Amino acid sequence: MKLMVVGGGGREHAIIRKLKENPAVTEIYALPGNGGMTADATCVDIAAKDIDGIVQFAVDNAIDYAVVAPDDPLVLGAVDALEEKGIPCFGPRANAAIIEGSKVFSKDLMKKYGIPTAAYEVFTDMEAALAYLDTAPVPTVIKADGLALGKGVVIAATRDEAKAAVRSMMQDKVFGASGDRVVVEEFLTGPEVSVLAFTDGKALVPMVSSMDHKRAGDNDTGLNTGGMGTVAPNPYYTADIAAECMETIFMPTVNAMNAEGRTFKGCLYFGLMLTPNGPKVIEYNCRFGDPETQVVLPLLKSDLLTVMQSVTNGTLADTAVEFDDGHACCVILASKGYPAAYDKGLPLTIPAEAAAHTYVAGAAIKDGVLVTNGGRVLGVTAVAGTLKEAIAEAYRLADTVSFDNKYCRRDIGARAMKATEGN
Ligand code: AMP
Ligand code: GLY
Repeated sequence: MKLMVVGGGGREHAIIRKLKENPAVTEIYALPGNGGMTADATCVDIAAKDIDGIVQFAVDNAIDYAVVAPDDPLVLGAVDALEEKGIPCFGPRANAAIIEGSKVFSKDLMKKYGIPTAAYEVFTDMEAALAYLDTAPVPTVIKADGLALGKGVVIAATRDEAKAAVRSMMQDKVFGASGDRVVVEEFLTGPEVSVLAFTDGKALVPMVSSMDHKRAGDNDTGLNTGGMGTVAPNPYYTADIAAECMETIFMPTVNAMNAEGRTFKGCLYFGLMLTPNGPKVIEYNCRFGDPETQVVLPLLKSDLLTVMQSVTNGTLADTAVEFDDGHACCVILASKGYPAAYDKGLPLTIPAEAAAHTYVAGAAIKDGVLVTNGGRVLGVTAVAGTLKEAIAEAYRLADTVSFDNKYCRRDIGARAMKATEGN
C-alpha cells in the first residue's frame, strides 16, 4: 500500500513510524515532511496548505490511503478534496474541522448541547468587548475566534491586560481575520489533561491520556510554546474521571456534531481542565496533538493503519484499540530563544540509539548535512514500566543528541511524578 501523510512535524513523524509497522505498507510519502524523517518517509516538497498540490500528488501517485494531520489543511477542506477524487482519508471534513477552526462555533456548540465548558461571551464589536471588560471578573481569558498558530489565547491578570489583548486582536489584527470575533471567557483552574480519541461519528475510543508542558521554562515559567514535552498517561485522569468525561463530554460532542449535520470522523482532541466543579472543555482540536502524539502512539499496541481505516469505514466499534499499560515521556529539544528569535541551520547529530526514539520536527538537509530548521527541533520519547524510568531514559537519550544552542526543559514529568506520589 502507498500512503501519504500531510504535514511535516514531530507529530507526523510519530504517525509515520507507527504506520510503517503494518507489513502491507510499501511506501509512505510525507508532504512536505522534513529532512529529519527521510529514513522513514519520502519527503515531497508540497506545502500542507497547498490543497490542489496535495490532491494532484495523490492522484498522480495512486495513493491508497491519506492521513491529513495538521489543522490548517483540515479546516481548508483537504479531506473533502481528496475524497472527491476517491482517495480514502483519515481526518474530518471541513464542516467538522470547524470544531477547532472557530472558537465561537465550539463554544456555541457546547452551550447548545450542555457540554461543560467555561462561561463566555462573544464579541464582534470592539467597543462592546471593552465595555464588558470594565466589569468582568479577572483573571479573564481572551481568545481569537480563528486559528492563530496556538497563540490566540491570552490569560489576562488585570482588566488593562484584557483590554490590550482585545485591542491587539480586533484593532491591530495581530491574528488577521481570526480576530474579527473574540471570545471572553471565565478563568478556570485545575490540572489540565489532553485526551485524543478516535471516532468514526458513531463510536468513540479514547486513547491513553497525556499531559503537555506548554511554557518554555522549568516550573511552568516563561512564554507559551507549541509544547516542550509530554507524559502519558496523565496521573490526574483517573478511571472515574475518564468515565465521567465519556458520559458528559465525549459522547455528547459526537452526538452534537451529528445533530448539526457535521459528523466528525478522525482524531478528536479534548483539551480538558479538571476543575473543582468537574471536568470542563478548554478547547477542541480536530487532529492529533503535538507533542501529545509522540507519547500516545508509542503506547498504542494495535495497528494504527487498521484503526484509522476503521474510522474511515465506520467500523471502529468492531476494531480493537489497545494501549500498553506502561508510561511514556517525550522531551522536546528546541533551539535556544524559542518561541521568540532563534538560529537555524546548525548541524545536528542524532546517535543511532537516540534516533530510534526520535521524532524530528524542524530539520533540513543542507549540502548533505542534517541541520536545525525550526524552534522545536525534535522530540525524544522513551517508554518504560514506570513514569520515573521513562523520564530518566528520555533525558538520557536526549542528552546524546547534539547541536549548538540546544535547549530543553529539565522538568518534563516532574508535576506528574508529584501527583503520582500524592496518591
Ligand atoms: P490553547 O492555545 O487554546 O491551547 O490555550 C492555551 C492555554 O491557555 C491552555 O492550555 C490553558 O492552560 C489556558 N486556558 C485556555 N482557556 C482557559 C480558561 N478558560 N481558564 C484558564 N486557562 C485557560
Ligand atoms: N499540544 C497542543 C496542541 O497540539 O494543540
